[in-house]
Amino acid sequence: MIVLPGPASQELGNRIASQLNAKLIPIVFKKFPDGESYIRIQGDVRGKHVVAVQTTSRPQEERMIQLLLMISAAKNHNARKITAVIPYFAYSRQDRAFLQGEACSAKVFIQILEACGVSDIITVNAHNPEAIRSCSVPVKDISAIPLLAKHFKSKGFESAVSLSMGKKGLSTAKEAAKILEGPSDYIPTRRDVHTGAVTIEEKPLNVEGRTAILFDDIISSGGTMMKAVFHTKNQGASRVYAACVHPLMTEDTRKKIIGCGADGVIGTDSVQSPISVVSVAPAVARALSQKEPKP
Ligand code: R5P
Repeated sequence: MIVLPGPASQELGNRIASQLNAKLIPIVFKKFPDGESYIRIQGDVRGKHVVAVQTTSRPQEERMIQLLLMISAAKNHNARKITAVIPYFAYSRQDRAFLQGEACSAKVFIQILEACGVSDIITVNAHNPEAIRSCSVPVKDISAIPLLAKHFKSKGFESAVSLSMGKKGLSTAKEAAKILEGPSDYIPTRRDVHTGAVTIEEKPLNVEGRTAILFDDIISSGGTMMKAVFHTKNQGASRVYAACVHPLMTEDTRKKIIGCGADGVIGTDSVQSPISVVSVAPAVARALSQKEPKP
């Protein structure tokens, strides 16, 4: 197995390679004066299983193109198998046409990956893994929630209340609660499909005098998390922490969430950011080293 750390995931690619004790081949990448991307694999991949690691957070289009070029180059240079590790899968929130006339962006990205020759895909807490799985190549979505929960446990947060955003996310809170050995619940959220504004519905939470940890797949503008932190504090939680897998952090997000009463905000290195204190490398390496089922 050969790991190619893409321009957007240099550190994570290195961590995955060292977890696997795998060879690493660097990628030469540059931008032409007009902004177009260039990549070259600096080694021989012929007959090899190549793992291209590239997250696709901001600037999404550039990072997506770089990944497609990596896959295509590996294919053209006769790699035997090409696994794309896409820790943050761009456009995954637009997993269907919510309004008449909209594109299903997640599907478009998958279709191009397939056309470039990807053999299989590994994602981390994709927003809707089912939407990504609707393609002809195998997609494995792994969860970094246990790694985040273990981080809190190692800091002495056993039996904290694990909370997730929205009823659909309750499995996330349950996943964390299994490790933290405390209760789990969800905060009901609703997003307006026209304005994108998020509202929190009133729901009593059993957090009085307790530490609560709010888990979400993504923190982007921080709007959802800010409201959730505020709501949880209002219900009497003694301490509130915010945790996400993908810290997109589009604005001065950490500061804003702390301003709403959070005692800390953390994320993983699926997207490298100042709050990326947990690495997804062990979970990705485990997924890569699992034996493939025989066809
Ligand atoms: C929504 O469906 C996601 O799970 C996140 O809650 C959302 O993407 C967070 O976005 P923001 O930080 O901009 O509120």
